[in-house]
Amino acid sequence: MSRKNDILSRMLKDHSKIEELLDDLEEEVRKGYSNMKKSFSRFEWELEKHIFVEERAIFTEYFPKDVTEGYKMLPVVTKDHNFILNKINNWRNDILNKRNITDISELKDFLIKHREYEETELYPKLDQALDEEQKKHIIDRIEQIVEY
Ligand SMILES: [Fe+2]
Ligand SMILES: [Fe+2]
Repeated sequence: MSRKNDILSRMLKDHSKIEELLDDLEEEVRKGYSNMKKSFSRFEWELEKHIFVEERAIFTEYFPKDVTEGYKMLPVVTKDHNFILNKINNWRNDILNKRNITDISELKDFLIKHREYEETELYPKLDQALDEEQKKHIIDRIEQIVEY
């Protein structure tokens, strides 16, 4: 099977998977606590794997030639990740304390903006800047963690 040697297409697929899981969570919250718990656990697992892959498999391999331009992107994305993970922690606490989670649409809007930035700015630049061998190495790591 020949697959394009690019990071963007793989992350696109994972982004839509995460968005579907969040849609599912939003739906399940309406149905009650036990459904919400299962659905949250699936969403949380996939989202945390995704962020792990981005920060530990992809960003660590990126050493831009144009340092000011290149490195500008990573703090933006990492700051977003911290916001997202913090929100997830709050939801986890809500669930442990048998509270309904709130602000789902707020996180959804945030995630959409975040992934659009990655898909239009970050990953196209990375695919351009990295050589084939670096990309192969990163893709191999992505595929150890993420299932499509
Ligand atoms: Fe991200
Ligand atoms: Fe992402």
